[in-house]
Amino acid sequence: MASPLILALGGSLLHPEESERRAWLSSLANLLSECEVSIGIVVGGGAAARVAIELAMGRGENNLATLDEIGIAATRVNATIVSQILLDAGLDVFAGIPSDVASAVRGLEAHSVVVMGGTRPGHTTDNVAIRLAIEAKAARCLIATNVAYVYSSDPSVDEGARPIESMTLSELQTIVGPPVHGKAGGSSVIDPIGVQAAIDNNLPLAVLDGREIDRIADALSGKPFVGTRVEVG
Ligand code: UTP
Repeated sequence: MASPLILALGGSLLHPEESERRAWLSSLANLLSECEVSIGIVVGGGAAARVAIELAMGRGENNLATLDEIGIAATRVNATIVSQILLDAGLDVFAGIPSDVASAVRGLEAHSVVVMGGTRPGHTTDNVAIRLAIEAKAARCLIATNVAYVYSSDPSVDEGARPIESMTLSELQTIVGPPVHGKAGGSSVIDPIGVQAAIDNNLPLAVLDGREIDRIADALSGKPFVGTRVEVG
């Protein structure tokens, strides 16, 4: 059986606006219905996670694991939304949202699509997707987010930030920093813990703008895509 494809969907891709969200997810469903191998999707928490974590911090909660659990709850709600829309589109989706990577791998053996969110405190869904790609023996982990590339520095604060089309995992680690989970609702382009896992397991990554469904389509089908290829090294 061909190896599955693994796709992380940043929570920011799930528009709060229901009609926009449905339109984007319908395009994604069309794309997935044409995939010839099974696909694991890991969904981030987006605005729901950020708002809920900030509310908890605002009333004095500072236990990192407790804040992480709030973020995980948001990722699982978002995963449920994605799963329901893909089921509605007629795809063969694993019933339920696996709460660990091993269950998701088993789901991929029997279904065309498995959708999951976070698993346990201490990292973000980037790391879940990377672990799923490793365990499911995927050739690459695709990370769809709301920026077009990995940049040489944060483009929201540095006008000189340069988009990078191709880089190594070690170069990515230099940008995201050491594999530490310092805060709930993290802000790095890719979770540094996931980058370390990719380095340890020789897993290439692809980072792209998930708002552009064509870019996801190109990357899933192994064609050249607009975004950043992160190769082993
Ligand atoms: P996200 O995966 O959405 O991470 O999980 P993020 O980096 O904050 O958001 P994006 O990638 O920019 O969209 C939201 C939060 O939930 C917790 C973490 O606190 C994370 O920041 N979380 C998530 C976990 O603790 N474990 C998980 O497996 C997933």
